[in-house]
Amino acid sequence: VIAPDATVLPSAVSVRALGVTIPAQTDLVRAPLGTVSGFDLSEFNVFRGEAPVDLVRLSDVKHATVTREAELARVSLQAPLVTGEDGEARLDGMNLECLALDLEAIEDGELTAVALWTDCQMVGGVLSGGEGRRSRRQMVSFLATPARVTRGSTVRLRGKYDPSTGHFTFVNAEADAPPPPPKPTTTTTPAGESPLAKGVSASVERWHFPMINDERRNRAYDAAIQKCMASGSHKVVDIGGGSGLLAMMAARAGAEEVITVERVGDMAECARAVLASNGFAEKIRVVHGSSLDLTPETLGFADGARPTVVLSEVLDDGLLGEGVIPTVAHARRELAAPGALVVPAAAKVYAMVVSMPPQPEPIVMPASSTPVGGGASRWSAYDTLRPPEVKKYTSVRADRVKFTPFSAPFEVFGFDFDAPLDDPASMADYSRESDVVVDATASGTANAVVFWFTLTLNRPTEEDAPADLCTYPAMTATCGAVESSRCWNEALQFLTPASVEAGKSFVLKAAHSPTRVFFRDIIV
Ligand SMILES: C[S@@+](CC[C@H](N)C(=O)[O-])C[C@H]1O[C@@H](n2cnc3c(N)ncnc32)[C@H](O)[C@@H]1O
Repeated sequence: VIAPDATVLPSAVSVRALGVTIPAQTDLVRAPLGTVSGFDLSEFNVFRGEAPVDLVRLSDVKHATVTREAELARVSLQAPLVTGEDGEARLDGMNLECLALDLEAIEDGELTAVALWTDCQMVGGVLSGGEGRRSRRQMVSFLATPARVTRGSTVRLRGKYDPSTGHFTFVNAEADAPPPPPKPTTTTTPAGESPLAKGVSASVERWHFPMINDERRNRAYDAAIQKCMASGSHKVVDIGGGSGLLAMMAARAGAEEVITVERVGDMAECARAVLASNGFAEKIRVVHGSSLDLTPETLGFADGARPTVVLSEVLDDGLLGEGVIPTVAHARRELAAPGALVVPAAAKVYAMVVSMPPQPEPIVMPASSTPVGGGASRWSAYDTLRPPEVKKYTSVRADRVKFTPFSAPFEVFGFDFDAPLDDPASMADYSRESDVVVDATASGTANAVVFWFTLTLNRPTEEDAPADLCTYPAMTATCGAVESSRCWNEALQFLTPASVEAGKSFVLKAAHSPTRVFFRDIIV
């Protein structure tokens, strides 16, 4: 439909590739798991599939560059179409079926993944989607088998583009060559994932990887579990067992009996494999199901006994979203022995009122929260397309987004998961409202609340004992915690903008339901 001499922009796209090593870490990237807190977690790698592809900002994840950058493909959008052997007319360079990629190593090391992005040819130059452009993410495509490289050598990869997912996948051409005939050809498609691996990896959220890798979270839980076990002989129910990590810590610390409950079937299956490979198959039992559906009989401790420790880590970035209140309340009322120890015992939600300017994703700012006069208000028609979730909190790494604090951090709600059972604080339908008086520390338009939490794992023996973990590392000391954790992000909720004035106070209307902390309005 366009004139033959029309200018097309971009006129070409170049798919760029870089060989990298990506270690296991607390960022959202599925590097292979190995030893965690002294346990072998490699069985959990079933949830990576054969060769996972993650979209990340390369500058945000720990990585080492091991090769020079290379061009994987160049597609011209301007040149005349070319007709392939199949008679189909395609963009010049668009045959992405069987790609070869030669990467020259600049370091001795292990190439575990290929990072990819596109550079667009514009009129006056190249618009790169690479690491330096904050608004773009790069694609990280892990190799099924890492390649050892030596400086100066060239590693040849075979790659393939899947138009249904937009993913490029690779295999090491030398290490993963298809077996010669007449053997059955199991790898006719480069880096193809088996349907089974695909199904299993899709059933588990990616955040399990950073969570399992969060050594500070793990150490704090390990210490708290050891403290519990030091107080006597214990039967432990581990609710939301995931990989079985906390259950293994309990067994290692000397628990008499441990049962771990996990509602996701594939995960419960995987926990069994992890436990077996670590020698805990006999010691720890896995129950597949929601703890909320269990009774002491279906939970199944020997002789119908009730657990004396309720252990859980069902906490999302906003603390309550995974159901810690109803889950722990039910376990204490319906499953556990009277006076059972509860880990975590308490949590506090902290918040800070901020001014957040429009910026690249993951921030999705509703127009109703965009400061008037700000350049972004011209995009307000786009608001009708925004997902309804923006009304709730989104997850951000506060140290990676731009904002101006308009208040000091303040405590919003304290939660005592360990409160006596006749105390309203232990009720499953636990909801509260609170008008928090906040002193403004800057003048301007406030439009969001950043919030996070601290965790106290064991029942405190003295008042004002420091919390064990703070989920916003920069606020660890301010919130009186001894350690920070990085697998949780901060929660961000937008508000109707309100003008506040430094030195004056305003009211922030805060509330929580059993499963969500939220903020209503700023009243000046
Ligand atoms: C945040 S992960 C923690 C996993 C593991 N305990 C750890 O700390 O590494 C929470 C897990 O709990 C499971 N879960 C949440 N609520 C549950 C419930 N009431 N009963 C059983 N599983 C639950 C989720 O499916 C998820 O796998």
